[in-house]
Amino acid sequence: MTQPTSPTGGSPTSPSSAATGAGSAPTGAGGGSPAVFPGGPALFRLDPAVAHLNHGSFGAVPIPVQEAQAALRDEAHADPDAFFVGAPDRIAAARARIAAHLGADPDGIAFVSNATEGANLALAAIPLADGDEVLVTDHGYGTVTAAAARRATVTTAALDPYLPDEDAVREAVLAAVTPRTKAALLDHVSSPTARPIATPRLLAELSDRGITTVVDGAHAPGMLADPLAVGADFYFGNLHKWGYAPSGTAVLAVAPAHRGRVRALVPSWEDAHGFPRSVENRATADYTGWLAAPEGLDLLARLDAAKVRAHNSALAAHGAALLAELPQLTPLPWGEGIAMRSLRLPPGLAETPEAARVLRERMAAEHGIRILVWPWAGGGGIRVCGQLYNRPEEYERLAAVLPGFLSGA
Ligand SMILES: Cc1ncc(COP(=O)(O)O)c(C=O)c1O
Repeated sequence: MTQPTSPTGGSPTSPSSAATGAGSAPTGAGGGSPAVFPGGPALFRLDPAVAHLNHGSFGAVPIPVQEAQAALRDEAHADPDAFFVGAPDRIAAARARIAAHLGADPDGIAFVSNATEGANLALAAIPLADGDEVLVTDHGYGTVTAAAARRATVTTAALDPYLPDEDAVREAVLAAVTPRTKAALLDHVSSPTARPIATPRLLAELSDRGITTVVDGAHAPGMLADPLAVGADFYFGNLHKWGYAPSGTAVLAVAPAHRGRVRALVPSWEDAHGFPRSVENRATADYTGWLAAPEGLDLLARLDAAKVRAHNSALAAHGAALLAELPQLTPLPWGEGIAMRSLRLPPGLAETPEAARVLRERMAAEHGIRILVWPWAGGGGIRVCGQLYNRPEEYERLAAVLPGFLSGA
C-alpha cells in the first residue's frame, strides 16, 4: 500500500467517533483495486461518459429515490389540496424515519433545505451581543462561514492542511479562542481537505469554556455511522450528499436547551408549534424531496450501510494512492472511514477561486472527469470521492491525464 504521508511526517488523522465506526479498508496502487460494488452503478442514471468523482459536492440520487419523489409529485399534481393540507403530518412522519436512522430525537431535528440554511437558523438562535465573536476555521465552507459573518464578528482559526492528526487540529482551534468567543462553527468533515475537525473532545473542551458549538455536518449523514454522537449544541447535515436523498434535503438537530430560541427564517402557519414544525413549513413549496428522503437512508440500510461505507472509503483511498504516485501531488492526512481524500497541488496552481474553477471546468470539458479543485494560497488541491457508482478505472483515468493537464495549466 502506498501510504500517504504529509511533508511534516504526518499520518492519517486518528479515528474518532467524528470519523465513523465503519473504518476504511484502504487499498493502494500496490494493494489491488477495490471491486465494483455489486449492482452499485446500476442504481444511478449518471452519464456513463463522465467519471463522477465528486459525489461530495452535490451527491447523486439513486433511481429508487428518484422514483419515490416522482410518485409524490404525481400525487401533488393530481390533488394539490389534499397534498398540501396533509403535508405537515407527512413531513413529521418522514422526519421520524430520518431520526430513527440518525439516532436522533424526532422532536430535536427539523428538515431544512440545505446545510447553508441550517447554519443560518442555528446562528440566529444563539444570543450574541455586540463584540461577541464566532470562531470558524479556514477550512469552513464559504456560504456557511458567510452565515457566521452576517451574525457576528468572525475569528478564523488557520489550520495548516498538513496538521498531522486530531490533536494538532484541536490545539489549533483552541488556540484561536479569545475571551469574546461565544460560539464556534466547525466542520464535522471539511469540504476542501476532507478531514474531521469537530471531534467529541474538541466540542467538549469548547463547551467547558462556555462556548456554544455549531457543527457543519454537510458530509456526515450517510457517510459516518453515528454523526450526531459528536455532541454539538447545533448540528446540521445534508441528506442529499451521502444519504442518497433528493436535492434540497437536510436536517438541523438542536440540543433541548436551545430549541425554544430557534425561529423560522420566514413566518408560517405552523409558527405556533415552535421547533421543529415551524421551521419546516414554508407555505406552498415543493416538499417532495423531504418526503422521499427516508427512502435514501432506507436504501443505504438495505445495502448494508457499513459495507457501503467501507467500500466508498476504500475507493477514495485507492484513488488517492494512485494520485499520490504523481510527483506534482502531495496527499493530505485523512480521516478514517471518510469517503473523500484530498491532495495538494504545487504552488502556482489553483491559488484563487477563479483559478480553481478554471481547472475544474477544464478537467470536465477536456477529459470528462468531475473532481473538486479547491483554492488555497500556496497551491490549491483536488479532492476525489468514492461512491457506489464509481469504478477503479475512473481514478486510473484521472491519474493518467493529470500530469499533462497540470503541466499545461
Ligand atoms: C462542509 C460543507 N458545508 C456546507 C456545504 C453547503 O451545502 P449546501 O449547498 O447543501 O448548503 C457544503 C457543500 O458542499 C460543504 O461541503
